[in-house]
Amino acid sequence: MINKIAIIGGGNIGGALVHEIATRRLARNVALVDVKPPDFAKGKCLDIAEGSPTFGVDVNLEGSKTYSVIKGADFVINTAGVPRTMRPDGTFPSREELLATNLKITDMVAAGIKKYAPNSFVISIANPLDAIVYRLYKKLRFRKNKIMGMAGVLDSGRYKYFVAKEAKVSVENVEAVVLGGHGDTMVPIRSACRIYGLPVEQFVDKKALAAIEKRTRTAGGEVVKLLGSGSAFVSPAISALEMVEAIAYDKRKIVPVCALLNGEYGVKGLFVGVPAILGKKGIEQIVPIKLTAAEKKSFRNSINAVKKTAAEVDKYKG
Ligand code: APR
Repeated sequence: MINKIAIIGGGNIGGALVHEIATRRLARNVALVDVKPPDFAKGKCLDIAEGSPTFGVDVNLEGSKTYSVIKGADFVINTAGVPRTMRPDGTFPSREELLATNLKITDMVAAGIKKYAPNSFVISIANPLDAIVYRLYKKLRFRKNKIMGMAGVLDSGRYKYFVAKEAKVSVENVEAVVLGGHGDTMVPIRSACRIYGLPVEQFVDKKALAAIEKRTRTAGGEVVKLLGSGSAFVSPAISALEMVEAIAYDKRKIVPVCALLNGEYGVKGLFVGVPAILGKKGIEQIVPIKLTAAEKKSFRNSINAVKKTAAEVDKYKG
C-alpha cells in the first residue's frame, strides 16, 4: 500500500481520483488541495470519508486550501486548472489567455510540490497537457524518470474501446497505442494495433479504422460537447491510477506516457507521448516502436505541434 498520494485540484477529476483511491485501498493517506472557496477540497474529502464506513475502508482523507497538506506525498497527481468558459460579457478567453492563466496556476502547483513533496513522483493531467507538464518540469527540475504526463493511457484506451466495439470483441482483446502530443495531432499507431495478437485489419476494414483513428484524435472534444459543461473525468482519473499502480507495485508495465525525451524517437528536450516501462524508479525505459512511413510523418507533425506549445511556455515569464 502506498503511504500517501496527493491530488492537486479537487474538481471532477480530482474528486474521482480521491474516490477511486479510497475504494481501491491504494493509499493509507490521501491529500487534496484546491483553492476554491469556501473550503472545497475539505468538503470533497468529508463527503467521501463519510461513505468510507459503507464501502468498508480505513483511509485518511485530508482536504485543504493550502499546499502544506501534501507534505511527504509519495505521488502527486496534478489536475489544477481552469477550463475554457464563457465570460459574463459572452466572450471567451483566447487560447493564449487561457494558457497564461493555467501556467500561472501551474507555477503555484510547482511551488507547492517543491516545498512539500520534493521526492514524489509527479503525474500531471491538467490541460493543455504538453504545456503544463513541461512547465512543471522547468520549475521542479525533477529527474526525468519521476515526472510525467498522463495522456497516452487515456487516448489509447479510447482507441481500444472504439476498435473493440467495431470488431465486436472484448475490450480486453485489444492492444493499441497512441503516440505524440495530446491534441488533434496525436497519432494512433495502426501497425501496433492488435486483436488477440493478430493484426487489427483482420477484424476491422481500413475505412472503419480510419474513422476510428479520426474519432480517437477528437474523442476528448466529443465528450465535452455531449456533457455541455466540463470534460471527461472518470477515464482520465483511472488512467492516471494505472500509472501510479505500475510504479508503486514495480510492475515494469509498458504504458504510453508523456515523457521527457533525450534523443529517443529523434526528439530531445520535449515531453511527448511514447510507450515506456513503468516500475519502481518511475519511467525506467522508453520503448521504441517501428513506425510505417505514414506514421513517422504524422509523428513528426505532432512533434512540431508540441514544439510550438513548448516555445509558448518558454516565452511565458509569469
Ligand atoms: N491550486 C489548486 N487547485 C486549483 C488551483 C490552484 N492554484 N487553481 C484551480 N484549481 C482547481 C479549481 O478550483 C478546480 O476545482 O482545479 C480544479 C479543476 O477542476 P475542474 O474544473 O472540475 O476540472 P477537471 O474536469 O477536474 O479537469 C482538470 O484536467 O483533463 C484536464 O482539461 C482538464 O485541465 C483540466 C484538468
